[in-house]
Amino acid sequence: MKPMTTLNEARFDPHCLNKYATLMAAGNGYLGIRATHEESYSQQNRGMYMAGLYHRAGERDVTELINLPDVVGMDLEIDGAIFSLLSGEILDWRRELSFSSGEVMRDVLWRAPNGRRYRITSRRFLSAAQKSLFAMRLSITPLHGAAQIKLTTGIDATQTNSGRQHLDEISLRVYDERYLQGVYRVQGSQIDVSIGCHCTVTHAVNRISAVNRKLLQHATAHVAQGETLCCEKICWIAGDPDHTHDGFEAQNLAALKTAADRGYEALLDESRQAMAPWWRQSRVELDCDDAQDQQALDFALYHLHAMTPAHDERASIAAKGLTGEGYKGHVFWDTEVFLLPFWPETARQLLRYRWHNLPGAQHKARRCGYQGALFPWESARTGEEETPEFAAINIRTGQRQRVASALAEHHLVADIAWAVMRYVDITGDEAFLQREGGELLYQTACFWISRTTEVDGHLEIHDVIGPDEYTEHVNNNAFTNYMALYNVANALKHGPAARLTADFKAKAADFIARLRLPQADSSHVVPQDDSFFSKPCIDLSRYQALAGKQTILQDYSRAEVNEMQILKQADVVMLFYLQPGLFTPDVQKASLAWYLPRTIHDSSLSKTIHGIVAARCNDPQTAYRFWREGSQIDLGDDPHSCDDGIHAAATGAIWLGVIEGFAGVSVEQGLCIAPRLPQGWRRLRFPLCYQGIRLTLELTPTHLTMTTSAPLTFRLYGQSVSFSGQGSWAYQDFI
Ligand code: BGC
Repeated sequence: MKPMTTLNEARFDPHCLNKYATLMAAGNGYLGIRATHEESYSQQNRGMYMAGLYHRAGERDVTELINLPDVVGMDLEIDGAIFSLLSGEILDWRRELSFSSGEVMRDVLWRAPNGRRYRITSRRFLSAAQKSLFAMRLSITPLHGAAQIKLTTGIDATQTNSGRQHLDEISLRVYDERYLQGVYRVQGSQIDVSIGCHCTVTHAVNRISAVNRKLLQHATAHVAQGETLCCEKICWIAGDPDHTHDGFEAQNLAALKTAADRGYEALLDESRQAMAPWWRQSRVELDCDDAQDQQALDFALYHLHAMTPAHDERASIAAKGLTGEGYKGHVFWDTEVFLLPFWPETARQLLRYRWHNLPGAQHKARRCGYQGALFPWESARTGEEETPEFAAINIRTGQRQRVASALAEHHLVADIAWAVMRYVDITGDEAFLQREGGELLYQTACFWISRTTEVDGHLEIHDVIGPDEYTEHVNNNAFTNYMALYNVANALKHGPAARLTADFKAKAADFIARLRLPQADSSHVVPQDDSFFSKPCIDLSRYQALAGKQTILQDYSRAEVNEMQILKQADVVMLFYLQPGLFTPDVQKASLAWYLPRTIHDSSLSKTIHGIVAARCNDPQTAYRFWREGSQIDLGDDPHSCDDGIHAAATGAIWLGVIEGFAGVSVEQGLCIAPRLPQGWRRLRFPLCYQGIRLTLELTPTHLTMTTSAPLTFRLYGQSVSFSGQGSWAYQDFI
């Protein structure tokens, strides 16, 4: 394997505290821990989250992913000076996240305000081998004479979600004067989280305190010049979002003791070994002119691994993964459309999350006057609708703007059905299709059938929001209608036999026959909805230059934006991405060109999708420009690009853009490959799993080479190829 890349923070910049806390966050699918510095900064938001652990603080609040007590913080006082990078001088600096091991390292040569110099180095990782294990190491070497050092660290339960506290302190204990353990209960429940830590500090005298929700160890040490004080902190963080079993405290204490006995290096080694096979099975390797492209891919895969709760099918992936509090940790369509295709095994489990939550979706459908399942636009653990009712308050008028998505952004229902079929096409998992998949298809189809309005003998879908959230309450959104059609057609084909009654079949057939499907106009452009073409269009270039920041809303109200041809994100283009076979290449090209000047890309879900569609339209250079911009949404220069968490969907899209865009992989009645590498990409290599067959694909600008674990038939630029073992093909023989 090519050497793995790293992510480096080139210099300490207080403006970027939260950006790098997100970018370098640790995660193992169970826990996510923001990469905040050990020492405190008032702008820095600490965060530790457990997948699926949500709570609602009050009647008027929204359910949110709980920010757990902090274990990362350490206060250092050296020779009377409080260590902070905002004082004194940074003489030397290195901060790096290793994608392969997940270890974050910081090495600082610091001159204190009193002129004394110290080398302060820290390392930390969240274990890939033991999901509850987090370990840290900090060393301080005085370079300017002996030093008196005070170090305070432990468990700080004053953490909140922007002021909202979700946990009650149940017990605080210190065992053997060495093991600290706090048990915290999710308010109003019987769910406990146990956080333990063991901290050894060389040369030190220790004292323990428990005051104001902080359980702390205070170490004081005298360290000679050139000697090094080492602090090793091993933490064990455990809980189950559904129940707490007997013996929970004792069990976690024992696990902490065992881990602490093994020490940082042995635990890191174990974690590295657990990660290595994952990287071997997943890595996308690239030889190209710009090293940032490989880095973006490593970054994406690192975070996809970190955010995916592979251990728990009642949890899904939040829009910000486990890296921050943005979107309150809620789950959107992002999971099914941008994140699901990644690993077949996990995809199944994430679909089962929806299947488990069918009762909530059926309840919402009934509440809104429909049948079947209307999945919540935003969900947490229970499948209830969690979308906040109101957006930010207008403090001048006191008015709150209603969030319309929960009321009308119904395309999510069909997106889930699409994901079911996509999963089945890729894996061939008939057992899933017959049980969970079929039921999901059927329940979602029933919703669509009940969602129509009859107009002039046609069935129409009124008052919806498509993917473009700047255009609300429209009729016959093309994306929604075509996706609903796909949903119902597949339910008819694959729904469970017991569900396919004559009545259902007749209704489904009628829906398919009479549903209004927006058609391309004489310029080959598909209308986004019934009214879109009649709206005025304005020059959006200055808003596009600041894509992602929603600056248009500073100049126009949402109602005004709604009355213009302004797209927040891909809508018709999104439909082309999901169902490429529906429209001719001419229609796709013409529509792409028409919608581009009208799209701001204010959502991170937009650019890479445009890139994939451009690649399919045989324009790899435009595709690359979009992919590149999409890949830099979090990684780019903006100091606040991801303060409140990673853009999870955009991270998934980095992978999708390469596999589906440049390698041209798709599954349409079998595996299809149609490579279109951008200029400067000399070699692209990645693994895939198709119908249980493990494949490795290697692409150059002229050839495809593939190895397979079983005989395989696929289509290269539309022509059928069968082979076994290894094969190599020149594109020119197929185009
Ligand atoms: C986008 C949605 C997306 C959500 C979460 C919004 O800004 O418009 O499409 O699901 O963010 O990522």
